[in-house]
Amino acid sequence: MRIGFTYDLKDDYLALGFAEHEVAEFDSPATIDAIERALRELGHDVERVGHVKALAARLVSGWRCDLVFNVAEGVAGFGRESQVPALLEAYGIPYTFSDPLVCALTLHKGMAKHVARGCGVPTPQFELVTSAAEAAAVSLPLPLFAKPVAEGSSKGVTAKSLVRSKSALVDVCTELLEQYRQPVLVEEYLSGREFTVGILGTGDSARALGVLEVVLLEGADAGVYSYRNKTQWESIVKYGLLEPGALRTEIEHVALATWRCLGCRDAGRVDVRLDGKGRAQMLEVNPLAGLQPGYSDLPNMAEMAGLSYRALIGEIVRCASARIDAA
Ligand SMILES: Nc1ncnc2c1ncn2[C@@H]1O[C@H](COP(=O)(O)OP(=O)(O)OP(=O)(O)O)[C@@H](O)[C@H]1O
Ligand SMILES: [Mg+2]
Repeated sequence: MRIGFTYDLKDDYLALGFAEHEVAEFDSPATIDAIERALRELGHDVERVGHVKALAARLVSGWRCDLVFNVAEGVAGFGRESQVPALLEAYGIPYTFSDPLVCALTLHKGMAKHVARGCGVPTPQFELVTSAAEAAAVSLPLPLFAKPVAEGSSKGVTAKSLVRSKSALVDVCTELLEQYRQPVLVEEYLSGREFTVGILGTGDSARALGVLEVVLLEGADAGVYSYRNKTQWESIVKYGLLEPGALRTEIEHVALATWRCLGCRDAGRVDVRLDGKGRAQMLEVNPLAGLQPGYSDLPNMAEMAGLSYRALIGEIVRCASARIDAA
């Protein structure tokens, strides 16, 4: 197949004057090279396109391909991850992963929780905060957790996100509002074990690739998979696939119910945590999960489950093709 490849390269944006923390979610050259290599080894012709504006220019000039492998997350706004899928739909070009609706819905963690909860998925109670006064007026019981409503890679998630007093809540919300210029999601703090579930496929044929437990070691920010814990994982975080059993069944059920009810496609991750009573709760959904070999949870989990990096990329293309052929 002729596969176009859309992505947001860290270096492209650093060169444009973006700060390091602003490009945290973008891909490194190593990731882009690895995806391209895997696609080539699978026998495809790959054309690097890059970000949404590069794609727009190509489309206007008449460029076409059989499928776009899309990992572009965009720069700003709740629609940033939807921009490439929407543009491709306008030109009738099929692409991997979720559609514009799902990408926007899941980027806004509050909206995603509303919809998932409406489908019966368990997820913590929450409020959205847009000012210090709203933070002071939050009526949920402490302890609480505060994070930007539409970020990823644990941006804005620090040891301070876990709050045990009203004044700490007002402080962290004020800081997050100032720094990220978007509402803060304040939700019940889930004190139990943490998992991320890798998912392959769409609808009824979606399956859990594995359930990875995130175990924080000594020296880690306690009780939260923070930006520091995630980026310095080698020394302070341990990961392990959860063995079969009642807990794994429950977690997979929550993750797959979320995946299916929101309409996510091809591959991604659902983050799940246990509450104080040991019940699995959905935290958030990643329809464009990181694909950095040896670093990102999805390829790491695939590797642990016996699926090489190339095989994972191959499965994503296969799932996308099957769904497109069936449409
Ligand atoms: N309600 C909560 N209770 C306890 N911990 C939470 C809660 N919400 C988030 N966390 C912690 O913060 C981490 C980051 O939150 P979340 O997964 O929403 O952020 P993210 O930046 O979108 O993550 P990703 O890197 O998966 O895109 C979680 O992995 C978890 O450790
Ligand atoms: Mg997460």
